[in-house]
Amino acid sequence: MCGIAGYIGKKQAAPIILDGLSRLEYRGYDSAGIAVFDGEKIRMQKATGRLRILEEMTQHGATLPGVAGIGHTRWATHGSPSDVNAHPHMNEENSIAVVHNGIIENYAQLKQKLQQKGYKFASETDTEVLVHMLTEYYHGDPLEAIEKVMHRVEGSYALGILFLDHPHHIYAARKDSPLIIGESGEGRFIASDVPAILQYTRSVYYMENEEIACLSHAHTRFFNVDGEAIQKDPVTIDWDIHAAEKGGFEYFMLKEIYEQPRAIRDTISPRIKNGAIDLSEIQISDDEWKAFRKITIVACGSAYHSGVTGRYVLEDLARIPTEVDLASEYRYRNPIYDPDTLVIIVSQSGETADSLAALRDARSHGCKVLAIVNVVGSSIAREADAVFYTWAGPEIAVATTKAYSCQIAAFYLLALKLASLRAAITPERFRTLLDALVCLPGQIEGLLSQKEKIQFFANHYLATEHIFFIGRGIDYALCLEASLKLKEISYIHSEAYAAGELKHGTISLMENGTLVIAVATQDSLYPKTVSNIVEVKSRGAFVMALTTLQHQEMEKCADYVLYIPETEAPFMGSLAIIPLQLFAYYVSLGRGLDVDKPRNLAKSVTVE
Ligand code: F6R
Repeated sequence: MCGIAGYIGKKQAAPIILDGLSRLEYRGYDSAGIAVFDGEKIRMQKATGRLRILEEMTQHGATLPGVAGIGHTRWATHGSPSDVNAHPHMNEENSIAVVHNGIIENYAQLKQKLQQKGYKFASETDTEVLVHMLTEYYHGDPLEAIEKVMHRVEGSYALGILFLDHPHHIYAARKDSPLIIGESGEGRFIASDVPAILQYTRSVYYMENEEIACLSHAHTRFFNVDGEAIQKDPVTIDWDIHAAEKGGFEYFMLKEIYEQPRAIRDTISPRIKNGAIDLSEIQISDDEWKAFRKITIVACGSAYHSGVTGRYVLEDLARIPTEVDLASEYRYRNPIYDPDTLVIIVSQSGETADSLAALRDARSHGCKVLAIVNVVGSSIAREADAVFYTWAGPEIAVATTKAYSCQIAAFYLLALKLASLRAAITPERFRTLLDALVCLPGQIEGLLSQKEKIQFFANHYLATEHIFFIGRGIDYALCLEASLKLKEISYIHSEAYAAGELKHGTISLMENGTLVIAVATQDSLYPKTVSNIVEVKSRGAFVMALTTLQHQEMEKCADYVLYIPETEAPFMGSLAIIPLQLFAYYVSLGRGLDVDKPRNLAKSVTVE
C-alpha cells in the first residue's frame, strides 16, 4: 500500500527510483510521482495510473537529471487518485518535497491552523500538511524541522524528504509505516520494502518508530525524535534476487502457486527433528506451551482464513480451546484478555495496521503474543514476544497463495507440538500425522501437474456472475479462502458458505445454472456435504465437486469432479486449495485482467 523509493549517490537517481517503484508495484497504487534535484532546483513529475505512464513521460528518468531524489506510488486514502493528489508534494516555493506512506490522523486540525497562517493547499491529501509544517518550522536545519513536525502529527508515516537548501542529502523518518535504508558503494537508498533495492544492495537498516535518517551519497546518520544521534546496525538480506523476479512465468501469482511445495518444505522441514516437532527457535518454553489454556488467533483477509483452519486443527489435534477473530473487529470489541491465553497474530507482510494494533493491545493487557509472519524484520515480527517465520520468500502478487499455504503449515506444526505436549493424541497418531505432513509438498507437486483440467473448467466460467463455495469443517475454512481468491482477482461475485447453513437462507439464491463449488474432503462429513450438493442441484445449480480419489461415486451426484490425493483429514486444506487457487488464476487470466495487481487492492495494508 503506497511505495517509497529514494536514492542519493554517484548515479542518475531517476532511473534507480523508477526501477525501485516498479518493484513495489505489487503493493498496490493508483498514481505515481518523482522529484529529483537537478543541481539548481527540485524538479517533479507525477502521473495518475500505471507507473509506465510516468516512465514514458520522463523517458525512463532521462528528463529528470540529478543524483538525489525521491519517488512514490500512491494508493489513495485522502482525495481521489489524480495528478494533483499524487506524491511528491511540494511547498509553494518549491523548496521542500515530501513523499509519505501512512495516514496523518489529525490532519484536519493541522490544516485549519496552517490555512489560518496563510498556507494554500493544492491537494486534498493529508500529506500536504507535512509539507507546509516543514516549511513553517524550517529555519536552516532540516532535522529540527522534521523533529517538530513529528512531535505534532498523530498517525502513521514513512517519509522521504528533499530540502532545496541541502541538495547533498535526503531525509527519511518513520512511525508505524515500514521504511528501510540501504547502502552500497554507489550510494544510499530509502524504500518501503526490500525488493525495491535488492538489485543494488543487501545491506539494510530497518528504521524503527520515531527515527529520522539523514542520507548523503556515502553516509547515513540516524537520530531519535529529539535529534539525538543513535547507532544502528545494518542487517544483510539473504533473499535470492530471483525470488523477486517472474522467472519465466506470465504472472507472479502463477509462479508463487508453483513455489508452494518448496515454500511448505522450507517451513516445515527445519522444524521436524528426530521424529519430533522442534520449535526451539521460538521463544516459548515447553512449560509455557503447556500452561496456555486457550489460543486466540487474530489476522486479516487470507491470514484470517488460515487462522480459521488453524482453529479446526488446534482444537481437533491439541484439544485446546481456540478462537479466531478479524483484527479489525478484535481491536475494537473490548475482548476479555487472560494471561493464560496465547494470542497468535498471523500476517504475511508483518505490517498490516489492524493486526499490528491487535498485537499491541494484547501485549499491553499481559498476553503473550506469537506472530506467524513471512517478512523478516517487519513490524509485527519485531514487536511480538515470539516469532514463527513462514519461509515462503518474497510474495509479490497481491493475492496471497504461498504465504497462506505456509501459514496453515505453521498451524499444523503448532497443533502437533501442542498435541504431543498435552498428550492429546497417541504417539502412533502423532507419527502418522508427521509422515503425512512431510508428504504434502510432493503431493502438491502432483496436483500442479494437472493444471490443464482446471484451466479447461475455468475457461467455461469466465462469464459467470455468481459463484458459491460450500463445505463443512476444514472444507468450509478452505472455501472462505477460495472464494476470496476468486473474487479479488476475477471480480466475480462469490460467497463461501458452511454447507449446513445454506438452507437457512442462501439456498434461495440457487437457480438454473448457478455455479456451486462443493468441497468434500473430510470423510466424517462427506455424507452431509453430499446431501447439501443434492439440495442445490435439485434447485438447478451446476455443481463442481472437489473430493478425494476414494470418493469417485461423487460423479453420480456432481456435474464435474476434481480429485485430490488422500492425506490425513486435518491437512486436506493444503491439497484442496491448490486447484482452487489455479481456478481463480485461470478465470482472471481468461477475463483478461491484471492477475497480479487487481483493482483497488494493496499488498500491504498499512492503514486501518
Ligand atoms: C488476499 C490477501 C489479503 C491479506 C490481508 C492480510 O489474497 O492477501 O487478504 O491476507 O490483507 O495481509 P497480511 O497477511 O500481510 O497481514
